[in-house]
Amino acid sequence: MSADMRTILAIETSCDDTCAAVVTEDGVVHSNLIASQMDHDRFGGVVPEVASRRHLELLDGVVGAALADADVSLAEVDAVAATRGPGLIGALLVGFSYAKALASTAGLPLVPVDHLQGHVSANFLHPSVFDPPFVCLVASGGHTFLARVEQRHGYEILGATTDDAAGEAFDKGARLLGLGYPGGAALDQLASTGDANAIDFPRTYVGDLDFSFSGIKTSLLYKLKALPDGDFESAKADLAASYQSAVVEMLVKRIEQAVQRTGIDRVAIGGGVAANSLLRRRVTELGVEVKVPPRSLCTDNAAMIGSAAFAISPLQPGQYSELDAYPSGSPIAV
Ligand SMILES: Nc1ncnc2c1ncn2[C@@H]1O[C@H](COP(=O)(O)OP(=O)(O)OP(=O)(O)O)[C@@H](O)[C@H]1O
Ligand SMILES: [Mg+2]
Repeated sequence: MSADMRTILAIETSCDDTCAAVVTEDGVVHSNLIASQMDHDRFGGVVPEVASRRHLELLDGVVGAALADADVSLAEVDAVAATRGPGLIGALLVGFSYAKALASTAGLPLVPVDHLQGHVSANFLHPSVFDPPFVCLVASGGHTFLARVEQRHGYEILGATTDDAAGEAFDKGARLLGLGYPGGAALDQLASTGDANAIDFPRTYVGDLDFSFSGIKTSLLYKLKALPDGDFESAKADLAASYQSAVVEMLVKRIEQAVQRTGIDRVAIGGGVAANSLLRRRVTELGVEVKVPPRSLCTDNAAMIGSAAFAISPLQPGQYSELDAYPSGSPIAV
């Protein structure tokens, strides 16, 4: 950690949420604002061009509000952190270019942050700072992997999805159940009214500690096709509960195996799927020390980017003007 970094202004624009936060090195979140773009719902997915344009419109206001909410002026900020990748390149470029320009004009250092490291680093924030070593499940809209985390920056991948991300499995399941996009949270809610044992869904385990979610999605599609006419409304909640239960069981089983393989009996979770009620409950039943971050720090947010930044060497003005965002890959994983 740089001795000069006490207060960080963080920016996150890797997908369709325009996020800014002020975080201090003790892990306290002073503000954490998210302007969610609702424009994509009717298209059934994020439209990259629309996302970039909305970030452009919203970002300056969101950053100003994050500073105001934290009661911090730009002069009191020690560095600007921003997500460099992975994500939608146009969306990333808006946030990253804005951060470079803001830091440069204010004479501040810039900290480029990997989005997936951010999901891991959400665990270093209050209300309870959870320090490595731990096994971390990152399950989000575009990624699902298990990591061995030994320090505050970087991690070793123990296993990852071979097809869809767990968030995609939730979103595709939700779409089939008529719950809109992104439907993970809606499916979670509907599942709470259904019977998780009503319908049998396949659990798939591939590789050593890898995941596969394409089979369960297809299974839901066929179960829906096989429903007698008029039965959809009455079957919906049971389908949601059983589907969710199978996805969560696959995730939790792998966490359990990762704990056994590594001998690290401390578990953390991150990414949007870590907001899922059943997953949050199941991990606490593992019988090991567990960190479950508040939901607002699981789905995309800038506080996690600020948290990650404290463990990264900042770039001084003049060192970052040429730096570019990256759409895929996560260079800090080994
Ligand atoms: N309660 C919930 N239950 C299940 N899934 C959820 C819940 N809340 C959010 N999700 C899912 O989390 C995902 C969004 O997570 P996140 O914001 O981290 O993804 P992303 O940033 O788009 O993807 P990535 O982090 O891989 O780039 C969506 O797929 C959404 O449906
Ligand atoms: Mg994310």
